[in-house]
Amino acid sequence: MQKILVANWKMNHSLKSANDFAKKFIPLVKDSRNKIIICPPFPLLPAMKENFFRTAILLGAQNAYFENSGAFTGETSPALLKDFCAHVIIGHSERRNIFSETDEIVNKKILLALENNLIPIVCIGESLEVREKNSAEKFLGSQLSNSLKNLNEPQISKIIIAYEPIWAIGTGKTASPQQAQETHAFVRNWLSKKYSLQLAQKIPILYGGSAKPENAKSLLSQKDIDGLLVGGASLDAELFAKIANC
Ligand code: PGA
Repeated sequence: MQKILVANWKMNHSLKSANDFAKKFIPLVKDSRNKIIICPPFPLLPAMKENFFRTAILLGAQNAYFENSGAFTGETSPALLKDFCAHVIIGHSERRNIFSETDEIVNKKILLALENNLIPIVCIGESLEVREKNSAEKFLGSQLSNSLKNLNEPQISKIIIAYEPIWAIGTGKTASPQQAQETHAFVRNWLSKKYSLQLAQKIPILYGGSAKPENAKSLLSQKDIDGLLVGGASLDAELFAKIANC
């Protein structure tokens, strides 16, 4: 089955290194049957759009604001982004923790991204403290219901969800495939209770957190893991190509 592999470059790469990445990456993934989405920093989107023209590689942004225009210095509008990419990561744990984005803000961003025909990749994930208290499901359930508030069925059917346990991001500590599958099954079940089983089965649920070539296959072989959101290992063309070709 086709998987979705998303590269989250975060605040990395220069124009030169990103162009070098593209040159190396394109031939390496030309036979991949998966959906590949690269999310570079904003200023690299036009160059990457040019690089990936006539390839199957898609682009995404790492964030978008919840207004289309106005006096919001430093923010980026989803109405502008849609000319450069089809996807946008929303509610990444770094946005939530470093930039104080609440579920309410995440919800507003999702709704406006959808209005602009961007596909939101909505991130959820618990901290180590929450997991150790055995409260992960309760926490994720609340993140889901608040972040996805007021989304109707046609809207929810367009989103992608990424489960990224905070304790696994950039730490080298991956959730085991079984641990990730268990949580993905919980998310799928939550969606099916809230909407319908049919709809829940259509929504891709990605795993993120120290995904790399060595663990990609076993994570992707789990029933409810439809793809990966990759940070560190997506910066290198050869490493990410190995994941993208899984
Ligand atoms: P990582 O990051 O792969 O470097 O752990 C994943 C993410 O934050 O999306």
